[in-house]
This record gives sequence, C-alpha cells and structure tokens, in this order.
Amino acid sequence: MKKQKLLYEGKVKKVYETDDPAFLIVSYKDDATAQNGHKRGTIEGKGIINNKMSNLFMQELEKAGIPTHFVKELNERETLVKKVSIFPLEVIVRNLSAGSFAKRYGIAEGIPFPAATIEFSYKNDALEDPLLNTYHAVALGLCEQEEIETIKRYGFMINEELKRFWDKRGITLVDFKIEFGKDTAGRILLADEISPDTCRLWDQKTGKKLDKDRFRHDLGGVEEAYGEVMKRACGQV
Ligand code: C5P
Repeated sequence: MKKQKLLYEGKVKKVYETDDPAFLIVSYKDDATAQNGHKRGTIEGKGIINNKMSNLFMQELEKAGIPTHFVKELNERETLVKKVSIFPLEVIVRNLSAGSFAKRYGIAEGIPFPAATIEFSYKNDALEDPLLNTYHAVALGLCEQEEIETIKRYGFMINEELKRFWDKRGITLVDFKIEFGKDTAGRILLADEISPDTCRLWDQKTGKKLDKDRFRHDLGGVEEAYGEVMKRACGQV
C-alpha cells in the first residue's frame, strides 16, 4: 500500500491517506504536548517507542477479542491502520487516583479504587475537553446508546488485559486514555494509541513514574522512563 497525501497533522502524529480508501498510515512524531497544548516539547525517540508499544498492545488486545484498527507495522515510526470515523470521546479508565481525578475530588494520588472506574470527555480543544456522562454523549449526538455501552465494555476489558500485562512486568497501571472509531460496516474498533503518553505507569518497587507525567510536571528523566517501559514491555529499547 502506498503512502499518499497528508490528511491530518495532530499534536503527536501525522496521518496519511493510502491508495486504498479503507486504510491510513499513521506516523508517530517525537513532539510532546501537555495542558491541552499549552506546554510543548520533544521527547527524543518517543515516536519509535509509542509506535512499537501501541502495535504490541493492539495485537494483544485483538487476541483477547477486542477489535482494533491495527493492520501492520510498516517501519519504526509508521503503521498501517484501518480507516475509521473517530468518536469525539476520550475514554479514561482508572484503577488508582491520580491526575485530574485526584485534583477534581481533592484526594491524594495513589489511592486504589475498589473497582476500576471509567469516565468520558468530549474531544474539543476549544472547550478543553469537558467531562461528560453517557447520556450527554448521546444527547450531543456523539454516539448512540448501544455504542457507548460497547465502548464502556471494551474499556473495562482492555483494562483487565493491560493491568495483567504490566503487573507481570513490575508496573502498576494507574490509568489510561483510549479512543474508538467506527468502520464503514458500523463495527466499533479501538483506534489511536496506547503508550506511555496515554497511560500512567508506576514502578511497583520504587513508585517511580514511568510515563508522560515526567514531562507534564518537569520531573526529568523522561527519555529514560520511556526507554525503561519499552524494555520491560518488549525486552528491548
Ligand atoms: O489527566 P487525567 O488524570 O485525566 O489523565 C488520565 C489518563 O488519561 C492519563 O493516563 C493520561 O495520560 C491520559 N490522557 C491522555 N490524553 C488526554 C488526557 C488524558 O492520554 N488528553
């Protein structure tokens, strides 16, 4: 499949058309943003890590019965994916308190929940991605009731798979963000990426943060942390 014109350039990825309208090529950049684009920087080699790690997870999740957009890794930064129409929803699953949840409810980070929680926000830069519930999502026409129920079910299934994966590697999966899309047949697929940019990953022995929070909060050692999770996930940097 041949790469054609640039369709879209986002904060951390570029998306190209291919000569088949059913497929796209995603290219991962080293650019990093936080605080809704107010903070910008570069994390050397991040695009390579996120591409590889995301593809690894997509393949693992497919095996666990979750349909994804993944088709084939083309090179260290580029992947062929199925074209979907993305639901403008960020789906966030949490196992422990952290980040915006801890801040919103005035609690400390690191409190384990009795059961995983899920929340949704409306992907809208101008509104700074406001939180919404499933009824709001349907009211706004972002998805249908059955679709959000499927998304919710997949969200918890993905959490179980990822939690088990990281636990075996000495890492606690604190929370993560995923996105879904719909193909032309109306099938809901996991899309976007799963990487240290979109997950909170804490070392179980030391409590060290091994994810994008190092960049968000200027903790230093960003590249090293990404390298460390890559090594634990794939046995290589
Ligand atoms: O900031 P907050 O606590 O809501 O983030 C929850 C999880 O979702 C974190 O793992 C964070 O990396 C991820 N996230 C993301 N993209 C966003 C917002 C959150 O990947 N725009």
